[in-house]
Amino acid sequence: MTAQKIDGNALSQQLRADVTRRTMALKVKGITPGLAVILVGDNPASQVYVRNKVKACQDSGLHSVLEKHPDSLSEAALLERIEALNADKTIHGILVQLPLPSHIDAQKVIEAISPAKDVDGFHIASAGALMTGMPGFWPCTPYGCMKMLESIGYDLKGKHAVILGRSNIVGKPMALMLLQKNATVTICHSATTDLKAMTLQADVIVAAVGKRNVLTSDMVKPGAVVIDVGMNRNDEGKLCGDVDFEGVSQVAGYITPVPGGVGPMTITMLLVNTLEAAERI
Ligand code: GUN
Repeated sequence: MTAQKIDGNALSQQLRADVTRRTMALKVKGITPGLAVILVGDNPASQVYVRNKVKACQDSGLHSVLEKHPDSLSEAALLERIEALNADKTIHGILVQLPLPSHIDAQKVIEAISPAKDVDGFHIASAGALMTGMPGFWPCTPYGCMKMLESIGYDLKGKHAVILGRSNIVGKPMALMLLQKNATVTICHSATTDLKAMTLQADVIVAAVGKRNVLTSDMVKPGAVVIDVGMNRNDEGKLCGDVDFEGVSQVAGYITPVPGGVGPMTITMLLVNTLEAAERI
């Protein structure tokens, strides 16, 4: 069996066309959705991520500002900037790129963002809303994974979804979203004793560990849907995911590639959240 690829670039293009259309409709009413992106320090990966986020906003007609601060920025000064952006009527979404320097308490910074502008979905209020099924912003990466499942018309009801990784950004919110769609959900992590026994039962596998070849073909049930959230480099320095793509493609029913899978979807859902933050006003 050769798996069908779920193309994150193609799906993103479709969804972004809708974002552009809705943005134009808001602009007619005098509202331009605005995103503020804050970068502290000079982490090279973060610099690429924030550049891509700002460019995606511009391409879809959203307003965006990128604030770059030196590594030496104090926590108090960062909290002050967030207060100012919370009050700024031209800004509907605020994103503080993680990781932050170690002298800054990242959770404290996230909690300072107004939940109405928390387009990353990392605030405790957003996490609580997701957990209880109330309206709120969903974290962009798992939200993008859900859109990919939706794009293939996959009915999660009664299916067994196995998630590899329990981060607050991906694994845990992913579990809640799948649960909301009536899947039976298992979260595996570094202390899971027999990972293969778990993944072999899965109809859907979401790999979000951050390590190459965490999922190999012998661990996948024929026909399963495999979503690869990983962003790693192989020995040649090329971008690759957590899944052995070549091997798993021979067994799975559907698979997302890296690059061109979840990555573009994460940014797309950030645009969707920012647009919706503006629409809610
Ligand atoms: N660092 C890695 N991924 C993310 C993300 O989705 N949002 C933010 N703010 N920082 C990140």
